[in-house]
Amino acid sequence: MPHTSSRRRYDAYRAQMRERLARMRRDGAVVSRQGTERSLRRSRSFGALLREFLRLLGPSRRSLALALGTLTVSTLLGLVPPAATKFAIDNVFGGAPLAPSVRGLFPESWTTLDTPRGLLVALAVGMIALTAVRLVIGLWGRWLATRTVKRVQNAVRRLAFAHAADLPLHRLQSLKSGGLVSMLREDAGGVGDLVFSMVYNPWRAIIQLLGSLAVLAYTDWRLLLGSVLLLPMVWFTHRTWIARIRPLHRDIKATRDAIDGHATETFSGIRVVRGFARTAAERNRYAEGSHLMARQEINVWWWSRGIEVVWEIMIPVASALLLWYGGMQVLEGTLTTGDLILFLTYLVMLLGPLEALATSATNFQASLAGLDRVLDLVAEPAELPDRAGALMPVRSEIRGRVEVRDVRFSYPGAEREVLRGVSLVAEPGQMVALVGASGSGKTTLCNLIARFSDPTDGAILLDGTDLRDLRLAGYRQLLGIVEQDVFLFDGTVAENIAYARRDASDEQIREAARIAFADRFIEEMPAGYATIIGERGVRLSGGQRQRIAIARAVLADPRILILDEATSNLDSESERFIQAALATLMRSRTSFVIAHRLSTIQHADRIVVIRDGLVDDQGTHAELMERSGHYRHMVALQTAPPIQLASGAVTNS
Ligand SMILES: Nc1ncnc2c1ncn2[C@@H]1O[C@H](COP(=O)(O)OP(=O)(O)O)[C@@H](O)[C@H]1O
Ligand SMILES: [Mg+2]
Repeated sequence: MPHTSSRRRYDAYRAQMRERLARMRRDGAVVSRQGTERSLRRSRSFGALLREFLRLLGPSRRSLALALGTLTVSTLLGLVPPAATKFAIDNVFGGAPLAPSVRGLFPESWTTLDTPRGLLVALAVGMIALTAVRLVIGLWGRWLATRTVKRVQNAVRRLAFAHAADLPLHRLQSLKSGGLVSMLREDAGGVGDLVFSMVYNPWRAIIQLLGSLAVLAYTDWRLLLGSVLLLPMVWFTHRTWIARIRPLHRDIKATRDAIDGHATETFSGIRVVRGFARTAAERNRYAEGSHLMARQEINVWWWSRGIEVVWEIMIPVASALLLWYGGMQVLEGTLTTGDLILFLTYLVMLLGPLEALATSATNFQASLAGLDRVLDLVAEPAELPDRAGALMPVRSEIRGRVEVRDVRFSYPGAEREVLRGVSLVAEPGQMVALVGASGSGKTTLCNLIARFSDPTDGAILLDGTDLRDLRLAGYRQLLGIVEQDVFLFDGTVAENIAYARRDASDEQIREAARIAFADRFIEEMPAGYATIIGERGVRLSGGQRQRIAIARAVLADPRILILDEATSNLDSESERFIQAALATLMRSRTSFVIAHRLSTIQHADRIVVIRDGLVDDQGTHAELMERSGHYRHMVALQTAPPIQLASGAVTNS
């Protein structure tokens, strides 16, 4: 039952929160839990986030500054109309002449201002004109700010995507693609919204606050004193409340990433899910995550409403007190009716922004938590950064000699060494076959040669240069990889073949397909090379996918080729084709081939037998047959007749 188990998880979460709060009090800092997998980590202070945000704005800072300028003007203009009410009451209806300080602002010759009717007309016309100007300026400013939002969103999304694409593979696996995607979309998008919630709206509130304070001070400074007493409250609510709300938003986002990651996984593995009748279980797991998130969101909702409730009590009370005090002043004749109305109008204009500041501070905690997480992502170390002075390999000067020198490797976080001192040499253009039992470390070795990771110890050299002294992007351009599990992108056949070389002509694509023995079946497809092959190539057979992958490698024209079980799951008919295709592909390239069927690598220049992360023996097929017991044993196993099932094992015969 999702309800009960999500309650249990929520209770556990609450306990965790209490513990966090205790630590917060003790350490005097906000500590937040990052996702489910990571250690406790401090979240950034508001000041640090604001600084980072301004940095992200980059060149948009100027246009935002301009937007704030126009906003200042339009907000100040917005303060004028209530003043007109005062003049209407005191000078039009009350009949008092305009105060000299006000009358002096207009030319002596504007005598209409000196009659009540004339003044009324002037007030009305003035207000209309003012509103029109304010509207135009305000709209322009909003447009500038909105454009800034979009620019920031783009910049942050681009930054986060680029950085995520450079993260080490093991980090990406723990982040999960679905979670990463929702983070890119929502958190990075939310950072853009900060333009309004953290800069634009608070700025308007502050201008309105200062403006109405100035008017109030001009009207009656004692009244002002009463209203200013409210100010410390903003500061207080901000300090205590906000510090608690942001970590909660971070938690919600981590839960959301986990849910999205799980959903993406379910649908990419939907065949397995259905095949093993796990639909109901996955549905429950999804519902449970969704419930947990709902509970967390409701929790944050309560915390956020706290501030609003305080304000909703404070404002009427404060207004009532000031009305009483001001009314007393009018009765005693020290204040005019117009002044009191003016004062109360501005009081609303003063308290409005205060309230807006306080409540928007809770609202934008979600976006701020998003920024915090994006910054965390960007701060993670990228995959194998280039060393200072790393060289850009020049393709035409690469001979293709690959030396693996005493390489040791263990996966991050794992104790056990998968490779325990492997050495081998592939001369330019040679085909080196790696054989050994499953789990012996063949794929790991190829991953190191492709530089998906660096060896824990030892080195891999290309033409005598350590791979770590070559620019990673340049080195990878020399590589071609065909694996057992072919990954095709949703797109046309031609686009998939030309993945590594977007500038390839149709002619070159056809030629590559021909070499890979893929031209025949491609031309038989409904739209030929323009056929859409569906996500991950689900509409193709295993052999067809494999041949498209080989065509892709042919077109990429790599200097170093890695074939990891590229032919393992094919029937012998398509394997014959593919063998021929691979033979053409490997010509004049240094190739590393892992093949399950030993018959396919007998003609390799060198066969390396890997056993438990060590090189057991190496040589040609003939040499190994002569001296390596292990190799002979493996060959014998594959040529022996299939194991007879014990007669008792088959019950329905
Ligand atoms: N990403 C990984 N994290 C931790 N251990 C791994 C990872 N990939 C492979 N291994 C371990 O490394 C060993 C060698 O795996 P692999 O190189 O894939 O073997 P082979 O390709 O020879 O079958 C295995 O014991 C496997 O469990
Ligand atoms: Mg393998």
